[in-house]
Amino acid sequence: MHVAIIMDGNGRWAKERGLPRIEGHRKGAEKAEKVVEWAADLNIDYITLYAFSTENWKRPWDEVKFLFTLFVDFIKKRVNRMKDEGVKVKIMGRREGLPQEILDVWDWVEEETKNEERITLVIAFNYGGRAEILDAVNKIIKGKIDVVDEKTFRKYLYIPELPDPDLVIRTSGEMRISNFLLWQIAYSELIFVKKYWPDFDKEDLKFALEEFSRRQRRFGGI
Ligand code: FPP
Repeated sequence: MHVAIIMDGNGRWAKERGLPRIEGHRKGAEKAEKVVEWAADLNIDYITLYAFSTENWKRPWDEVKFLFTLFVDFIKKRVNRMKDEGVKVKIMGRREGLPQEILDVWDWVEEETKNEERITLVIAFNYGGRAEILDAVNKIIKGKIDVVDEKTFRKYLYIPELPDPDLVIRTSGEMRISNFLLWQIAYSELIFVKKYWPDFDKEDLKFALEEFSRRQRRFGGI
């Protein structure tokens, strides 16, 4: 089972409390750690979290920098604990344009956790679904392949071995996909939760999984 989450509403959560937006992101990162633990407890095999999109560069530079720092700290502070818990970490996104420090942490955490197998945490960082598809197309063109089918195309995605999400959850009440995993969500179930991401709790995750199990997936069949 693969659950992918759009962790939305950090800014509004902070605003409602009269706090700076970055405090919402800080809380959001703490919640991200928790959700990985809950997911492992609930026998989810893959969890993908949308941490920084290719569109997030449009935010004020201070906020962008803070999100970069949070990414680095999240990994450095938690890597040992994640290893103890059997979490394999993969980063998914476009490497071009990211600071060297981020790329170093990216490679380091993947290497450190590569033998873990209880759950895979995918952090989507500098990720955009259209960028991923275009990067795949450009690799295909460079490889001088002139006909591709779905199976071949998949091999050019950022993480070819990642199964498609069964379920996508978005918090904060917004009902959009926002350029998340466009190729992979063709048949995913979508669940929108009204709470802001820092308020998301284990019951919300369980409820989403129950709702998922009630839906009948037919993949276009009958
Ligand atoms: C959306 O809320 C959230 C983001 C753009 C950043 C998500 C990042 C984290 C939760 C922390 C980093 C986590 C990891 C795993 C490194 P928003 O800012 O768009 O909220 P708003 O719509 O209320 O303004």
